Amino acid sequence: MIPVSEPRLDGKELEYVKDCVKSNWISSVGEYVTRFEKMFARFCGTSYALATCNGTTALHLAMVSLGIGEGDEVIIPDLTFVASANAITYCGARPVFVDVDPTTWTIDPSKIEQKISKRTKAIMVVHLYGHPCDMDKIMRIARKYRLKVIEDAAEAHGAEYKGKRVGGIGDIGAFSFYGNKIITTGEGGMVTTNKRYLYEKMRLLRDHAMSKKKRYWHTMVGYNYRMTNLQAAIGVAQMEQIDKFIEIKRRNAELYNTLLKDVKGITLPAEAKGCKHVYWMYSILIEKDFGISRDRVIAKLKEHGIDTRPFFHPVHRLPMYRDNGSYPVSDNLSCKGINLPSATTLGRAEIKRICKVIKKISRA
Ligand SMILES: Cc1ncc(COP(=O)(O)O)c(C=O)c1O
Repeated sequence: MIPVSEPRLDGKELEYVKDCVKSNWISSVGEYVTRFEKMFARFCGTSYALATCNGTTALHLAMVSLGIGEGDEVIIPDLTFVASANAITYCGARPVFVDVDPTTWTIDPSKIEQKISKRTKAIMVVHLYGHPCDMDKIMRIARKYRLKVIEDAAEAHGAEYKGKRVGGIGDIGAFSFYGNKIITTGEGGMVTTNKRYLYEKMRLLRDHAMSKKKRYWHTMVGYNYRMTNLQAAIGVAQMEQIDKFIEIKRRNAELYNTLLKDVKGITLPAEAKGCKHVYWMYSILIEKDFGISRDRVIAKLKEHGIDTRPFFHPVHRLPMYRDNGSYPVSDNLSCKGINLPSATTLGRAEIKRICKVIKKISRA
């Protein structure tokens, strides 16, 4: 089976993990954690980066440090992984959904203002599947209404908007290093920011909010959201290869685009002007004139040993977030979208085979 994604651990991952074991530094104190954080901040072009135990805790830490709480509202795109909405709910706040753009599949800035109320405190944008959001328009709205901006960049390490890497454009960026992400630490996350006070607050909250001056003295309810030195050791080895990984993803996307561009009934992923897409997941839409439904395509590809994923369900359709608003673009994309195999281990011959099968089933 050709997987949708898989970790690639053929750098110095094992050497660095062995180093942790041999030196006995396997918990969250250790030099790899700070090394990983420094490398990641440099990569994103931010002043600070702070490692966490996964991407969801990174988002939650961002929310809490921005003072999001009971009764507040946070705007998010309707098409995203559920963790974006959950991080808001954990704070007692309410996610307010906005439809997405039909071309980039990310939050539609022209539909944000109508969802802003007196309770709105922030906008959480999601750089979906590796494509950056339209940040200029979003930042303009945020400034006008004095809202904070959180970038959920869990799927978009290294994506660029007008030459700026994501994670450093809004107030806080949040990343995931789950096994299927652009780089991985098994489980893991990172928050990035240029604001010292936010970094200090997140660092405090990550470690039970324990006073630096007085041990076991806590003035806030904090969390244990720390990353281990073992995870960070893998992270450092992955950072040494991140540029190569992104290059491979972009090259693979180019080949997919070339091979699929003339297939009737397939919409290819767009790369908006001024944006660098990192194709965490190379994704296509199966339109009506393809001949068979999206779900049949997924089943057929599986029969041929090719694993895929359907797009996320619109969050407003999930039982705990159900709302009666109208999100036609998100609904439409969610029914048509497929993530094709996108691992950095994927070879050109495999991509050619996948595209050949897609063409064959469209004629079936
Ligand atoms: C958009 C988005 N946000 C948040 C997360 C949460 O990250 P994690 O699985 O590391 O908690 C993910 C990934 O799984 C994601 O895709």
